[in-house]
This record gives sequence, structure tokens and C-alpha cells, in this order.
Amino acid sequence: MREFLKGRVVVTRGDITDCDVDAIVNAANRSLLGGGGVDGAIHRAAGPELLEECRTLGGAETGEAKITQGYRLKARHVIHTVGPVWHGGGRNEEKLLEDCYRNSLMLAVENGLKSIAFPSISTGAYGFPMEKATPIAIRTVKEVLEAEPSLEKVCFVCFSRDDMDVYVENASVMLGD
Ligand code: APR
Repeated sequence: MREFLKGRVVVTRGDITDCDVDAIVNAANRSLLGGGGVDGAIHRAAGPELLEECRTLGGAETGEAKITQGYRLKARHVIHTVGPVWHGGGRNEEKLLEDCYRNSLMLAVENGLKSIAFPSISTGAYGFPMEKATPIAIRTVKEVLEAEPSLEKVCFVCFSRDDMDVYVENASVMLGD
């Protein structure tokens, strides 16, 4: 695990469903009714009540974020956000990915949450290149943390060693050691 910004940003390797935070962020699809990858893992760990609540949300557009309870997860809440599918960069993907991080963080602030954990949104099934997605994630989190002192901790949870190396390399440059 590596810490930045006096511990307000943490980069760690592991399974986001194990995170004991106020909210974990789910890389969902527009139906918000579950899927594979981290979406599947979160629904499996949270149990069926999560899907029942998701059915009441009416889906979400790319870049949007919606909040539910966390049910059987350690996390008290799940913030579901829909990342952009990577089509080469010509369809506003970078701005939409930034919206996912910003809207998820602002939803946490609006709900009085102090700690939040993100997976690497869109970099799996949705094909967003890690080397492009990671600086967007870190820059957006930095901007919101500077504006929102109520947010105490943002964790980037990397599912692989390689992903963690990309986050640590970018965070060291962008956030200072
Ligand atoms: N904990 C943390 N990170 C995870 C976990 C986990 N348990 N499982 C997967 N990841 C990582 C992947 O390694 C990847 O870096 O989450 C990142 C996002 O990958 P995906 O889950 O494939 O999400 P995404 O690329 O945003 O695609 C979303 O996939 O599962 C479906 O319903 C989902 O349609 C949506 C699409």
C-alpha cells in the first residue's frame, strides 16, 4: 500500500469487496443490474438485496453515479457509476471517465461519506487504456479533494500488480510522494 496527500489518497492492491470504507464504487453498466468483472464481484458479495435496490434506480447514463446500501459488504454503501466504453478516444471518453470519478465523489460528499474506494473504472471489459485512464482518475480525485475537505480518504484499489505500478507511478508524479 502507498499513501499520498498526507494519507488522503491510498493506492492498494486487492479486492474492492473487502474494503471497509463508507462507499465502494462499482464499475457498472447502464442497466445497473449487475454483470461481470468488479460489478459481478460486488453483487456476489453484497447479496441479492443489492440487485433488488438497483432495480428501483431506473438505470444510469454513462458518467452518472447512483448510490445504494452496501448490504452484506463491509462498505456501508455502493456508488454505481457507468464508465465509457473505449472507442479510440474520439467519442468524449476521457471527459465521461472524469465524470464518473467526479460524480461518484460528489455523491459521497452529498451523503456525508468520508471514505470511498474506486476500482479502475472502464479499464477492463470497456477497454480504456490504463495509461490514459489512470491520470484522469488521479487528477479528478486531486481536484475534488482540494475542494472538499470533508472527504478524508480515497482509495484506488488495483486488482493486479501491474495496475498498482501504473497508479503508484502516476500518483508519485501528480500528487508528490
Ligand atoms: N476488486 C477490484 N478491482 C477489480 C475486481 C475486484 N474484485 N474485479 C475486477 N477488477 C478490476 C479489473 O481488473 C479492472 O481493472 O476492475 C477494473 C474494471 O474492470 P471491469 O470490471 O471489467 O469494468 P469495466 O471495464 O468498467 O467494464 C464494465 O463490465 O462487468 C461488466 O457490468 C459491467 O458492463 C459492465 C462492464
